[in-house]
Amino acid sequence: MLERYGHGGDLITAEETYGLAKEQFIDFSSNMNPLGSPDCVETILTNTWKELVHYPDPAVRKLRHAIAECYQIPMDSILVGNGAAELIDLTVRFLQPEMTALARPCFSEYDEAVSKIQGKTLDIYLKEENQFELQTSDIVKAADQCDLFFLGHPNNPTGKLISQPVLHSLLDTNQPVVLDEAFIDFVPFEKQVSLMNQAYQSNNLFVIRSMTKFFAIPGIRLGFMIAHPNWIRKIQSLQVQWSVNALAQSIGASVLHDHAYIKRTKNWLVQERSWFESQLSDLGLKVYSSDTNYLLVQLPPSIHVKKLQEQLAHRGILIRDASLFKGLNTSFFRIAIRLREQNEMFISKIKQVFI
Ligand SMILES: Cc1ncc(COP(=O)(O)O)c(C=O)c1O
Repeated sequence: MLERYGHGGDLITAEETYGLAKEQFIDFSSNMNPLGSPDCVETILTNTWKELVHYPDPAVRKLRHAIAECYQIPMDSILVGNGAAELIDLTVRFLQPEMTALARPCFSEYDEAVSKIQGKTLDIYLKEENQFELQTSDIVKAADQCDLFFLGHPNNPTGKLISQPVLHSLLDTNQPVVLDEAFIDFVPFEKQVSLMNQAYQSNNLFVIRSMTKFFAIPGIRLGFMIAHPNWIRKIQSLQVQWSVNALAQSIGASVLHDHAYIKRTKNWLVQERSWFESQLSDLGLKVYSSDTNYLLVQLPPSIHVKKLQEQLAHRGILIRDASLFKGLNTSFFRIAIRLREQNEMFISKIKQVFI
């Protein structure tokens, strides 16, 4: 199984399972920016390796300063982590919820974090007939039964942002809310839809961001979170010292200034998403509209996702089996939106499998 370790993007498992070298795969199973990392990443790796004889800045000052400037957020409301994954874990460890409401299907690390502290989860099942969008009624129903909401904005694997009215009802519950905005930087007008600017002024809102998807640097591990400075201090006290390495800190501070790359990415996605969605729909697949850089797709009942995954993998194409997300059945898969040539390759390979 490609998701042996719980996630997509595992090229070593793909090599072992399907017998091709990892360079031979086009990876649609993890949702990375297909433009590759910004040029400054190579420059930093080449020029700053000599600094590895020193410990990284334990207060991550340069990068926190860059984030503060970029998003107009006070520095003491920012905590940088070893990927959003570390911050998910730390936030749950800090909050110690007994019952965490999760909107299914959702990213599996929320469950992992909750189960590590022996917490329980309250399942809110997103409905196909609502296009897998969270509803105000879901929030109202769950609010009395949980002591934490942990939600993706946009959600993975559905690709949907939480609507403004639902966000309002969420904040009205006065329960702690963690919003995972790992993919929000792909959304046009990101700064208007993100709740980062509310988080640092709030007592119960925590926003987690990833830098690894948009800047295509998952190997370096980098994310940050925004919350009230009192909470940031306490969450930081649970973090392992020097958890963000020196190269990650330098890279993070530089990529945020690469406005040309940011613009290129946003332009690519707007064009490519609508093209890819319509090509997939033309094949008779049900494509759920997405606010970000991946698509949730439903197969006709006669095709089992595991079979499709295997047949495509033998042809060098990796997809994410979305039936592994609680709340979805074996007709769902998730794919990243990639460059036109790669997306065309996907369409041609899936046609071979269907015929
Ligand atoms: C929704 C979501 N949040 C967080 C993460 C973790 O991101 P990072 O690479 O920054 O740890 C992922 C990774 O796939 C994800 O899909």
